[in-house]
Amino acid sequence: MTNKATVTAPSNIAFIKYWGARDLAQAVPMNASISMTLTECVSRSTVAFSDGSDRPDRIELVGDDGSLTPPPPSFRERALAHLDRVRRWARRDGSFHVATRNSFPTGAGIASSASGFAALTLASTKALGLTLSTSELSDLARMSGSGSAARSVLGGYVEWSPAGEGAGHAVAIAPASHWDLRDVIALVDHGEKDVSSLDGHRLAASSPHFEARQRILPERLAIVRRAIEDRDLDALGPVLEEEAIELHLIAMSSKPPIFYWKPGTIQVLERLRGMRREGLFAWATMDAGANVHVICTPQAEAPVIAALTGLSGVSSVLLDGVGEGPRGEREHLF
Ligand code: DP6
Repeated sequence: MTNKATVTAPSNIAFIKYWGARDLAQAVPMNASISMTLTECVSRSTVAFSDGSDRPDRIELVGDDGSLTPPPPSFRERALAHLDRVRRWARRDGSFHVATRNSFPTGAGIASSASGFAALTLASTKALGLTLSTSELSDLARMSGSGSAARSVLGGYVEWSPAGEGAGHAVAIAPASHWDLRDVIALVDHGEKDVSSLDGHRLAASSPHFEARQRILPERLAIVRRAIEDRDLDALGPVLEEEAIELHLIAMSSKPPIFYWKPGTIQVLERLRGMRREGLFAWATMDAGANVHVICTPQAEAPVIAALTGLSGVSSVLLDGVGEGPRGEREHLF
């Protein structure tokens, strides 16, 4: 018998970053992280499970025109390992067929692993007929090795703590309806990043600034939790920008150093500083890449877009904002 399920899962943007792991293979983070789940940047996955079949698992990417292509080897390997993990976890024999599609342009430099692995975890467990709690799903998504996928299983504002403090799964700290924040994503680099987040995590502790970061983080986490609770962008903004710059400081001072920024990254950071001097409040955060996520209120969104699209280093902007998390779909991709 074959069972099929389709799930759409969003990406997320971290305000406090996961950078460095206690156990990289299991994606047990060194520190707690806090993120906002997005709504427009999503991955949709259809997973079919054929009971008892010994065919090898099959994974395909669906293009905008509906064409099917094989996924890049790095994603394919991790996705196959994850399907195997899910199958063992469920103690079932059979084979998976997966088709997955991203809403955002492939190769735009927007990380698709959080949304991709969250969608794969949710759709594969559903195809197996399992009914799991959100905590179990988050925990399972984390084990894909893309730790940030643990946060994409939930909507709104989400915190994920290391095992021991929070059992390794993410929890929602406020729903999307609590605070309408926008994320204007300035694309400054379309290429695949040279160094993966996994390598970044691996090297993080070699930076002389890594230990200092661990001492600073409890206070920063408290400020971000409180700012979300109070819907206080004046309190959140400076901390989220400082946090992103610190992640890159650690990357740049790792041994060997990792340099993710491009000229456009600095241009956006400078423009935001200028805008704030002029009274328009918006704040930057960056993941392990060059593109800049500009966090602002709905009122500031239009002027932010106008300011960023005028910069020579910005090729285009994607508009996103806080979202409610994954959802099941009736329509399948195959
Ligand atoms: C900088 O190990 O989850 O985005 O698999 O590439 O998504 P990907 O990376 P992962 O590390 C995320 C690193 C980060 C910060 C964050 O999202 O917390």
